[in-house]
Amino acid sequence: MNLQERHNYRPKVHFTPLSMWTNDPNGMVYADGMYHLFYQHNTEEARWGDIHWGHAISADLLHWQHLPVAICPDELGMIFSGSCVFDALNTSGFGTAERPPMVAIYTNHDPDTKKEVQSIAYSTDYLHFIKYENNPVLEDSNIKDFRDPKAFWNPVRNSWSLVIAAGDRVNFYSSKNLKEWEQTGEFIAGENGLKGICECPDCFPVQTGEGTKWVLIISMIIGDETKGNVEHKTQYFIGTFDGDKFIDTEKEKEPLWLNYGTDYYAAVTFQNAESNILVGWADNWAYANETPTGKYRGQMSLAAKADLKKTSAGYRIALSPMGLEKLMAGSLPVEKESNLEWESFGLTVTGKGSGKINLHNGCGEKLTIEVSGDEIIIDRTNADEKDFSARYAMFNKVSVKRYQKGDYRLEMIFDVSLLELFAEEGLIPAAVSVYPKEPYNHLLLEGDMEAVIYPVK
Ligand code: FRU
Repeated sequence: MNLQERHNYRPKVHFTPLSMWTNDPNGMVYADGMYHLFYQHNTEEARWGDIHWGHAISADLLHWQHLPVAICPDELGMIFSGSCVFDALNTSGFGTAERPPMVAIYTNHDPDTKKEVQSIAYSTDYLHFIKYENNPVLEDSNIKDFRDPKAFWNPVRNSWSLVIAAGDRVNFYSSKNLKEWEQTGEFIAGENGLKGICECPDCFPVQTGEGTKWVLIISMIIGDETKGNVEHKTQYFIGTFDGDKFIDTEKEKEPLWLNYGTDYYAAVTFQNAESNILVGWADNWAYANETPTGKYRGQMSLAAKADLKKTSAGYRIALSPMGLEKLMAGSLPVEKESNLEWESFGLTVTGKGSGKINLHNGCGEKLTIEVSGDEIIIDRTNADEKDFSARYAMFNKVSVKRYQKGDYRLEMIFDVSLLELFAEEGLIPAAVSVYPKEPYNHLLLEGDMEAVIYPVK
């Protein structure tokens, strides 16, 4: 069967556009009881192209309602990634105290000159956006790759701040009204982390047992295009924010990765939400334009709460998927060898020693998740057809060093064509896509383990 004909790879609880293309999640903000997700959207083709901001809302972070496109390209260019804030105090003056505005700040990317400037748009019905008449609000002709502004509340200055990718670093700016921005600092990714071109940064406080710490996330383009070894990965740093800039206090020896999977990038948090909730693009630039999903392409990760947990190696981000409690309440024990009734399901596995979880189908395709003494390995080598892209097979295996030894617990959500694994209390999250010829309809658990299963819909 031609993979392009299967056309039913669409996950059930991972956001996908109704049709056509998405990459990064943008402008995520909580307002009036709804989580708003905007997203990089080509409305004409199921591949990257003329980028708009699409829009969807959800009350539970699992089921999304599609809304009309929010922001369209204009004479300054396409609408690249950026953020939204719920301007509760109406600092921008775009709304009123009774009806605070939602303000979007995004990059205008000129497709001819590649010039990138930052612009704003606002909404008081949280549906229609009006572009500010004096756009752009921030430009710097000396910076190449100047994009993806993420605005956040600055508790030191009592003002807005934004962190934005600026080539090999991220810059910090501050503003009282979201319209006039003044630079306050910078952070060079390669100084004590991985070097590369920065994209989609985010900076936010996290409460720990030892007080507030700040996290800086930076999605990175690493490697060299001419050598054909470019990769996109998201690293993070832990430190403080002095009101002007982020300071890395931990100075880790190795880069810290936000997710270990093949398919996770450009993750940022919701503004104005009760906790730090991250959503990433669950795809990989190496093959995203070629995936065999039919009339749409691209998907988001599950929303996950980001906490800092103390490990023997120091503080690390732990991710817990959100909104699954109700579904998990219906969990049933599962036999070691069983037929799978659902194409989307959650599996909670507890085990001792080594173990292997196999998902397979009648075509001999098999996806495996293995826990060995000190590693977790997700292997899609024989999980699906790979010919839709020359580069897909370069990412067959994910191996992650465990934090703990001995007993283990895995939360897995398998959603038609996307596996999200949260191991070791979320310290090891991994998102991996698969495109099997037929749905996996069989489960085999090898080793000393027990599991419960629940349908996901
Ligand atoms: C990251 C990114 C952003 C940019 C957007 C364009 O995936 O390259 O830096 O704003 O995608 O679609």
